Amino acid sequence: MSVLPLRALRAEPAALMRLARLADVPELETLMAPFVATGDLLPRSRYDLCRHIKEYVVAEADAQGGGSGGGRRAIVACGSLKLYSETLAEIAGLAVRDDWQGRGLGRAVIDALVAEAGRLGLREVFALTRKPAFFLRLGFGPAEKAQFPQKVWADCARCPRQACCDEIAVTLKL
Ligand SMILES: CC(C)(COP(=O)(O)OP(=O)(O)OC[C@H]1O[C@@H](n2cnc3c(N)ncnc32)[C@H](O)[C@@H]1OP(=O)(O)O)[C@@H](O)C(=O)NCCC(=O)NCCS
Repeated sequence: MSVLPLRALRAEPAALMRLARLADVPELETLMAPFVATGDLLPRSRYDLCRHIKEYVVAEADAQGGGSGGGRRAIVACGSLKLYSETLAEIAGLAVRDDWQGRGLGRAVIDALVAEAGRLGLREVFALTRKPAFFLRLGFGPAEKAQFPQKVWADCARCPRQACCDEIAVTLKL
């Protein structure tokens, strides 16, 4: 999963998917910030992003959106695969920059993470999300949070929104 063309893109210019690197962390923070503000993503500290950078894929495109290929590149989408066991992982930190939404990038990030999950030998990936319809569109099925106690122990127990959580669980068997 080093540098893959995003086949699912419906619009030029093309973006490229690659594994994230530490130098991407400031851009990842910028990409996620508006979605953290709306509550669609949980906040992540810079320390947390650095520690877990190997779990992330990013889609990179021309910053100007011109597709010439020669300009500065910007990260326009990201997502991560958070491992819980030898069979289970969570898709987390999924974000597509506003002006790039609706062009197949969200699907392409999920495809890349699911392909990586398959390569690792995982049997199931899940997500907790306020956008369940997006995941259902991509073949995930509805689930119960209680099916993923590892997530509940790791994150929900410390989450400030645990008493008023509006996230829905979705899952995909591989
Ligand atoms: C949700 C999100 C990742 C979707 O990314 P995107 O690039 O716009 O989605 P795509 O263009 O790849 O859409 C793929 C398919 O899902 C559908 N879809 C996209 N967003 C959807 C939504 N909110 N509800 C239902 N279906 C949706 C598309 O219509 C498309 O279907 P099609 O290919 O059959 O026509 C993006 O809107 C986003 O970053 N939102 C803010 C952050 C967020 O909510 N992240 C999820 C946290 S778990």
